Amino acid sequence: HADDGYRLWLKFDLITNIQQRNSYTQKCQFIYSDNQEAITKTAQKELQAGLSGLLGKKILILTNLAGKKGGIILQVIQNEQTNQLAEDGFSIREENQNIVIRSRTASGVLYGSFAFLRQLQSGSSIAQINITDSPKIKYRMLNHWDNPLGTIERGYAGSSLWKWYELPEVIDQRYIDYARANASIGINAVVLNNVNASARFLTKEYIVKVKALADVFRPYGIKVFLSLNFAAPKLLGGAKNSDPMAPEVRNWWKNVTKEIYAAIPDFGGYLVKANSEGEPGPQDFGRTHADGANMLAQAVAPYKGIVIWRAFVYAADPKGDRFKEAYKDFKPLDGTFASNVLVQVKNGPIDFQSREPFHPLFGAMPKTPLAMEFQLTQEYLGFSTNLVYEAPLFKECLDSDTYSNGKGSTVAKIVDGSVDNHSLTAIAGVANTGSDRNWTGHLMSQANWYAFGRLAWNHSLSSEQIASEWIKMSLTQEPKAVATIQDLMMKSREIYVDFTTPLGLHHVMGQNIHFGPEPWLERSARPDWTAIYYHRADSVGLGFDRTSKGSNALGLYAKEVQTQWGNPDTCPLPYLLWFHHVSWNQKLSSGKTLWNEFSSRYYEGVQSVEWMQKQWNYVQSSIDPQIFADVTGRLAAQHREALNWRDACVLYFQQYSKQAIPAPYQAPSRT
Ligand code: GCU
Repeated sequence: HADDGYRLWLKFDLITNIQQRNSYTQKCQFIYSDNQEAITKTAQKELQAGLSGLLGKKILILTNLAGKKGGIILQVIQNEQTNQLAEDGFSIREENQNIVIRSRTASGVLYGSFAFLRQLQSGSSIAQINITDSPKIKYRMLNHWDNPLGTIERGYAGSSLWKWYELPEVIDQRYIDYARANASIGINAVVLNNVNASARFLTKEYIVKVKALADVFRPYGIKVFLSLNFAAPKLLGGAKNSDPMAPEVRNWWKNVTKEIYAAIPDFGGYLVKANSEGEPGPQDFGRTHADGANMLAQAVAPYKGIVIWRAFVYAADPKGDRFKEAYKDFKPLDGTFASNVLVQVKNGPIDFQSREPFHPLFGAMPKTPLAMEFQLTQEYLGFSTNLVYEAPLFKECLDSDTYSNGKGSTVAKIVDGSVDNHSLTAIAGVANTGSDRNWTGHLMSQANWYAFGRLAWNHSLSSEQIASEWIKMSLTQEPKAVATIQDLMMKSREIYVDFTTPLGLHHVMGQNIHFGPEPWLERSARPDWTAIYYHRADSVGLGFDRTSKGSNALGLYAKEVQTQWGNPDTCPLPYLLWFHHVSWNQKLSSGKTLWNEFSSRYYEGVQSVEWMQKQWNYVQSSIDPQIFADVTGRLAAQHREALNWRDACVLYFQQYSKQAIPAPYQAPSRT
């Protein structure tokens, strides 16, 4: 029967290559563990379901090993070997003719079991298997921007997975399937609700609902967190205000926290968006972000909870540079946060654009653990009609060198704590899931969820490898088709950048829903939300001067980074308009003038979408017909949108450049 994408990368269909199947079957005749923890039981169940599907016969879970050989043993044990692994790290080895999956923790055994299944799912050999793997980051989280009424802020795959009105009595099978998918890629924490948070989640009515979800996720090694509304003591508790220094307010938070932990003893903690885009926060009372964070940190500390405080803040100053705002607010607070607080920083300084330089706070707050926030949902990447594989975007940021502690102080190594010696570490992805049958709207966006989990576990994996794993488990194992789809995925983000915001142009999308182009936007509720604020087009040229002659946002980075981006003649083209106002006739390193390069990119971007359509057609015979048709339709929609972006942007900016569209491209026809 046709595949609707519901099963994600966890299909476990029968392996059709009989020789291969037999070689696996020989080594997977049973599953055994003497550990009774719930998570180990999950691992056994998952292995059983996966292997039974792949091998076409029921694989038994033994209650007594009795010296049997040829099976899989799950071992949770503290010994010399497992002590060398990070918490939740695992090894998979053949020992005395059994395959032993071993870890210090039950979660580690669960991750090892999924890693083992992945070998079989992607057709790798398990002869003499010897894998050791450890996560580099402690909290690998999804942030859901889900509202109590079931809508999702910036969600493009249906409505919320959480059916608040049915909870806690009704447990949707989908909650379990969601947890399985996360566990299979090492995700171990989820924030259930929107950062623009309703205070309602802290009420008795909702705490029991949150508990019901926490109970479902626990056997999969997943901790639950909540986003909170900083004004809750006033909104719910009848306090005079929500001043974090007021004893009444501090007590209110202590009490509500106690209630939550009474229901959910392993509750993770709080995520907070404060004094940002109209949300309440400590600054409303003349207090700092650290005052607010530390108050909450104190409330969760007795339960070993943590507070994740977001750094996404900016003031509305038409003469200022939004790029610098978070740095200005947070850098001076370095060293003042409690030890169970992380500051969560978006990958770039503005807002999840299709390309941003890394956020200047990375490397600038050595005394504070910084969590990374990526956005999986495609708010600025074409919603669910555009094929954009995000791993290259994540990697570009993670691999950027901050030079904060000499060469090699990459963003990844700031986030994993190795540069500044932090053991409390976290990475978050704003989820792209929803109630659509295939979870993510665009089936190919499942790869972004998958890639995020894999990189959160190990940021040194390559985008290519992750794509290939995902394709083999989700779409096809036919080698030519795998290569074709992998190539298409690898190029997809650059193609999107080309037909929307080439050369470092940013924030010119439609104002309200952030869809399509609106570079002409001059007026907005806030001056720093208009498009002209960002692109600064005039008769001379294009781009935001952030050098010392302009806003000097560049000055927030290490000297080496300033050298890399500071000179318009040598600044890499992808970042050019982020940092420089470049004249239309300036010759770029490509040999073309700015105008010619810029306008050509739009045309090439559209042609590249046509290329993607062609490549996709080549793989038709290797793909499930329902999935093939759906992706085909979305590529056609993407093509229509790309034409719109191209024509809108080229015509708009042409008013300033006053130059013809370069050969070989034709002027858009005016009908
Ligand atoms: C973006 C997004 C908002 C979101 C905000 C945030 O601005 O458009 O919907 O609330 O980011 O990250 O807080």
